[in-house]
Order: sequence, then structure tokens, then C-alpha cells
Amino acid sequence: MSNKVDVLIIGAGASGLFCAIEAAKRGRSTLVLDHANKAGKKILMSGGGRCNFTNMDVTPQNYLSANPHFVRSALSRYTQWDFIGLVCQHGIAYHERDHGQLFCDDSAKDILNMLLAEVEQAGASIQLKTEITAIEKQEDQFLVRTTQGDYLVQSLVVATGGLSIPTMGATDFGFKIAQQFGHTLVPYRAALVPFTWNTKDKPQWSELSGLSLPITATANNGHSFTLDALITHRGLSGPAMLQISNYWQPGETLTIDWLPAIDINGEIQQARHAQGKKQFKTFLSALMPARLAEHFCAQLNLQKTLAELSKKDVELIQQTLHSWVFVPGGTEGYRTAEVTIGGVDTSKVSSKTLESQLCNGLYFIGEVLDVTGHLGGYNFQWSWSSGWAAGQVV
Ligand code: FDA
Repeated sequence: MSNKVDVLIIGAGASGLFCAIEAAKRGRSTLVLDHANKAGKKILMSGGGRCNFTNMDVTPQNYLSANPHFVRSALSRYTQWDFIGLVCQHGIAYHERDHGQLFCDDSAKDILNMLLAEVEQAGASIQLKTEITAIEKQEDQFLVRTTQGDYLVQSLVVATGGLSIPTMGATDFGFKIAQQFGHTLVPYRAALVPFTWNTKDKPQWSELSGLSLPITATANNGHSFTLDALITHRGLSGPAMLQISNYWQPGETLTIDWLPAIDINGEIQQARHAQGKKQFKTFLSALMPARLAEHFCAQLNLQKTLAELSKKDVELIQQTLHSWVFVPGGTEGYRTAEVTIGGVDTSKVSSKTLESQLCNGLYFIGEVLDVTGHLGGYNFQWSWSSGWAAGQVV
């Protein structure tokens, strides 16, 4: 005997929980299934444990998708202000960091507990440790077979997220369901992810591990971010590198400006008159971390005073410090990536309801779709907004 539910949501993460709250509030019998032993694991590990749950300034330009307009409807109907209102209603203390990012004062647990309390209050159920073994469409309903029994379902919502952090339960199951019902996938890869050194750069650069400084990272397609970068023994990380990884394709180079706020040529010309005897290395150490300045001087073989620098030296310095060509070995991949870029092609999904245009009653929400936000709370906002939008109609 199959159990009957109006709405079955696969994935008890950010978008699935949010959709469950909205669907259950409308009086729909709602069940969330997850194979993990705990709901919302990624919420708990997000934002360094403090969950960057949204951003003060959310626009469609903060998202990448083959269809850039897709996000507009959901984001405009359930906004960051709506989510902030909910956070305030639950008395959760939060603060704003750079670039409008909002974090919990205390812990990401506050956000998960808020969602679980809302799920309970709305009357939805969550069932964990449940594997879905088969999904069949039967006229106007779905038969969902699981390790905990079978379900006959009117609305089936796929909220299985992306592939990052497989140890937390990430799978490509959502992509497989999409393909089963005729949807295509936009090629996907790890994003918001640190880069690794190529084998040639690794020995010298990994010695500088731990250094952090503001840089501008530019991708071949012209997108650029001026933010902090962190040199690690594996490669280049930090917000600037995570952001630019969304715009980078394997095999491409990146251009790094190590002194984005400074015109190095102008600074040298100014300083050489008054301080011509100063070692270039000492001069450069005032503009960037000393170990990095030493590294560049050694690489460029510039053990010279400012007065001794030739025109060619200055050109080389300018080229190296403002337009350093980084050839990444690759990225750290899904093991440490925050998100998956690409996914279920949105061209056959309604941007208003998130319902499949190929299969009535099937919905896709959250990161499983080809929608990827910038770093800064945008990915969660997409989960809340898309979960909310589907929750109004499932
Ligand atoms: P989510 O991944 O949240 O949930 C998917 C659920 O589906 C999981 O519970 C999983 O177990 C379940 N599932 C998968 N396969 C299944 C299967 N076969 N059967 C049953 N269940 C299955 N974003 C942001 O805006 N601010 C931030 O601070 C951060 N920080 C951050 C840190 C780290 C380390 C990571 C990895 C990610 C972030 N993110 C983030 C990104 C954010 O976590 C992510 O975009 C959302 O959680 C996506 O929500 P979803 O509901 O789509 O998937």
C-alpha cells in the first residue's frame, strides 16, 4: 500500500525546507525526504559556522545562468527583506559585514532551528535516512519508491542541491531525475572554489602560504573582482579567487593585479627622486607583505636600488605586479567548493512556479538548477526565493 501525500520534496536542505514551510502553510500535506542523517547540513557549515544567510543588495546581476532572466520572478516576489523579516521575527541576532553580507551573530544553528521550527509549526514532516529507489509518473501523480515505503504524490519537488562537499550527502540524483523526465543539463563544475598551483609554480609559491592581501582577479571574459586573496600551500584562495572561479573555465588563465589601488610606475617615479638609494625590495615591502615583495624581487632578479632601476625594469615590474598571468593547475573541486555551477537547464522550467514544462507536477528549486550566485549570501537567497515560489503552487 502506498502512502498518499500532496507534496513530496526530495532534499531537506535550504530550498527544500523553505518550500515545505510554504506548501504546508497552504494546507497541503507535505513530506520532505532526505538520505542524510540530519537536515540542513550545509546550512550548519555555511559562512564559517555563522551562515551568510542573505545580502542587503540582491539583484539578478549577482547570479550566473545560461538564462540570466530566470531568477527575476522568484527573487522579486520573495526578497532578502522578507527573509530578514523572518530572521527578526525569530529573534535571531545578526550583523552586516563588507559588501552587504548578513551573518548570524551566534551560529548557523539559529537559521536551521528557525527553519525546523517553521516546518513543524506549518505541519510538514521530515523523514531522514531515506533513499529514493525509483520514481514513476502515473497519469496525474507520481509513485515514489523509497527504502521506507512507497508514496503516491501529486507534486514532486526536487531540492537535492549541487555536488559540492560529497561527504555531506551531495549527489547528482536531482540531475538524474531531470534527465529521466526529458530535461537537459547545462554542463556543471565546481565553483566558488579555491585554485590549485600548477606544478611549475607550486614550489616557490607554496612557501608564501598564509599571506593575504587585496588583489584584482580578472578572468578571460573580462569579469573581475577586487577583494582579498589568500596564498595557501595548495594554491590561491580567498574571496577574490572564489568569486572569479565562477567565471573561469578549465584550461584558461587568470590575470592578477597584486597592487590594485596603486600605480606602481607612478610610485617608483615619485620615490626615486627623494629616496634613490633605497633598495627596491624595501620600497615594495611597504606596498605589499614583505615576503611577497621578496619573492617578486627574487623572481625578477631585481636586487637594485630605486635609482638603479632601468626603464625596462620598471616595465617588467609593472607587467608582473599589475598583470600577473596565473595558470591554475585546476581547482580544489567539489571537495571544498561552495557550489556547483551549471545544472538543470532552466529553459524548460517556469521561472514563476519552478514547475517543469515537460512534466506536470514536477518542480526544481535551489542549487540543482542552473542558477549560481556570487559569494555573499546570494546562493541561500536563491534557495529561499525559489523554495518560496514553488511553495505557493505545489
Ligand atoms: P542543499 O545542498 O542545501 O540541500 C540538498 C539536500 O538534498 C541535502 O540535505 C542532501 O542530503 C539531499 N540529497 C542529495 N541527494 C539526495 C538523494 N539522492 N536522496 C535524498 N536526499 C538527497 N551560500 C550562501 O548563500 N551563504 C553562505 O554562507 C554559504 N556558505 C557555504 C559554505 C559551504 C562550505 C558550502 C558547501 C556551501 C555554502 N553556501 C553558502 C552554498 C549553500 O549552502 C547552497 O547554495 C545551498 O545550501 C543550496 O540549497 P539547496 O536546498 O539547493 O541544496
